Amino acid sequence: MTDRFTLDHRLPQDHLATSLRTDVLRGLATAPRTLPSKWLYDARGSELFEQITELPEYYPTRAEEEILTRRAPEIAALTRATTLAELGSGSSRKTRLLLDALTAAGTLRQYAPLDVSPSALLDAGQALCRDYPRLQVAASVTDFEQELPLGEEPGPRLLAFLGSTIGNLDPAQRQSFYAALRHTLSADDALLLGADLVKDTTRLVSAYDDSQGVTAAFNKNVLNVLNRELDADFDLDTFDHLALWNEPEERIEMHLRSRRAQQVKIPAVDLVLDLAAGETLRTEISSKFRRETLTAELGANGFTVRRWWTDTAGRFGLLLVVPTH
Ligand code: AVJ
Repeated sequence: MTDRFTLDHRLPQDHLATSLRTDVLRGLATAPRTLPSKWLYDARGSELFEQITELPEYYPTRAEEEILTRRAPEIAALTRATTLAELGSGSSRKTRLLLDALTAAGTLRQYAPLDVSPSALLDAGQALCRDYPRLQVAASVTDFEQELPLGEEPGPRLLAFLGSTIGNLDPAQRQSFYAALRHTLSADDALLLGADLVKDTTRLVSAYDDSQGVTAAFNKNVLNVLNRELDADFDLDTFDHLALWNEPEERIEMHLRSRRAQQVKIPAVDLVLDLAAGETLRTEISSKFRRETLTAELGANGFTVRRWWTDTAGRFGLLLVVPTH
């Protein structure tokens, strides 16, 4: 272990257990039943998500990587960042494109990854310390409902929020997120935001309902999380994976649909679910964006879009965003 790596635990020890209980009581007790998508990502869920990024139908990861490969030098020149901070671990392949460009530009000193998973931070942090011998890695275990520790080094800082994870937030949650960012970012800092774009429904739906059933397994795994963490008795074989396009909200939704009427017990929170045949639990929203409306939304929340790039096929957007002066 090197002295260039620090891991700061910002979440209380029982935070995950406590917030899972709260989320289950709030979201699953009554219809329409929903669960925040962060619970999809236990160790097994994260592994399945990595597999999703390789599926022929799941284009966002490759589209964003195409943009980053082409634009990383430009991003480095525009930002001259001394710190690269990153929300959510995701694929470190994409991070490395930015680290390489900022290293070549000669400005980079520190990488500050933020994630809910200590093991992901430890693994990625150690590998990066090995491969970038002059880099300080200041990792923080946190989720983005908390404050955002972006490193103490003098800036400018570049905060990367990639993979269109912003799509997992609903409009109200995005507002709170922008407010927190506006509070945290200084005038010379910048945000690099990945945003998946609205496109034809067939291509969107098949990205979330692949032919190999990996996304179905990823979705159903959240029931294993509830069984393990809260002693619930979900029978995974009685649920179907459902990916649907919510047209008015312009978002993909993942649901788990009960094949039959059934009772499910969740003893740790004293809950018994009476599910009707065909009733669904919504496990994720993945909003898709348009250039005009996303630019307007950022503008209304104190941010200016300095650059807007897409992949050649126009499937995915990468935005360089700064606080409005
Ligand atoms: C990484 C959260 C952005 O919404 O596309 C992939 C997660 N869910 N397939 C997305 C996901 C189903 C992914 N995010």
